[in-house]
Amino acid sequence: MNRPINTKELKELVLDVICPSGIWQLSQDIELLLNRHLKKLPSGDVTDQEARFPTTKQGIHVYLDKFFTRHYFQLQNSLIDYFVSDDFLEKVLNGRLTILDIRCGPAVFSIAATEMLNSLISIMTETGLLSHRKKVELTYVLNDISPICLGTAKQMLNDYFEIGRNMHSIIPKVILGIDRGFPLNLKQLGRIAQNYGSFDIISLAYVIIPLVEQSNISGVADNIFLLENLCSESGRVTILVCKFIENIIRRLGRIVKVPVRQMEYTQRVYSSENTNETFTYLYYESVYKPRVKFYAKRLYDSLPNQAVAFAEITSAA
Ligand SMILES: C[S@@+](CC[C@H](N)C(=O)[O-])C[C@H]1O[C@@H](n2cnc3c(N)ncnc32)[C@H](O)[C@@H]1O
Repeated sequence: MNRPINTKELKELVLDVICPSGIWQLSQDIELLLNRHLKKLPSGDVTDQEARFPTTKQGIHVYLDKFFTRHYFQLQNSLIDYFVSDDFLEKVLNGRLTILDIRCGPAVFSIAATEMLNSLISIMTETGLLSHRKKVELTYVLNDISPICLGTAKQMLNDYFEIGRNMHSIIPKVILGIDRGFPLNLKQLGRIAQNYGSFDIISLAYVIIPLVEQSNISGVADNIFLLENLCSESGRVTILVCKFIENIIRRLGRIVKVPVRQMEYTQRVYSSENTNETFTYLYYESVYKPRVKFYAKRLYDSLPNQAVAFAEITSAA
């Protein structure tokens, strides 16, 4: 790709907007979006379980208040190198991007990725990398079994585009909600990938603990291989976990054979209890490009039942 500015310069320009002076901050639009939903939802005490896996309006209120910005900044921090890479810029130039947000909660990942894309497009336009007339069409596949989470995810994404009315370059072409649980929905996700195109970014953010509890680490690894097969060649699988499960994520990384990195970043704190302060957080990430398909083929060959599911995924029209 012929670039007027190099990758490092582009990254610095994007960071100047979303992470000025090294502190991650929300744009006015995202702050407005978050506050609008916090105001709309009733507040109240909920159990720790309800705060992490919301099934009620109070639960989603607590989730938005406690976790939204943390997950949002971690996702941007982990994806920025991909966003300024040639792999990603090609997708922007082609004008199409497909996001799969597994166990999405209130769509933190989809919103964080879209807002960072918005900043990137503005800078690409200003620096002559992209025409002012360029449009990028986004397809979002949101997955969650909790109706309040899936409903809030769709509503927040729609409101985001309504608030950012002057954001003409990004078109939300399709927003699909999938309420069948992951990983049981893998076959359905395969059909969607066939119909809408392979996923360019697959998010598994803050979902590893319940997945490991439901099966075990090698079962989770098998499902990640299957998912990876649905990722576009120059796309990325994105796994994020909190700092408390280093052992689990490192073991998973060894089985899936992908690097796991410890990350540290500083953000402004937006919680109702603690505004205008900054805080430094640690977390672990694995952001990687899908490997050649024989990884999955080997797996399917050794797992007869899943091999059948895979055959159906690949042959679905
Ligand atoms: C920690 S939360 C949200 C994580 C979100 N990805 C984020 O980064 O903020 C986990 C979500 O998984 C959802 N969930 C639980 N089991 C699920 C399943 N089998 N399939 C899909 N979603 C599930 C919960 O309803 C909850 O919204």
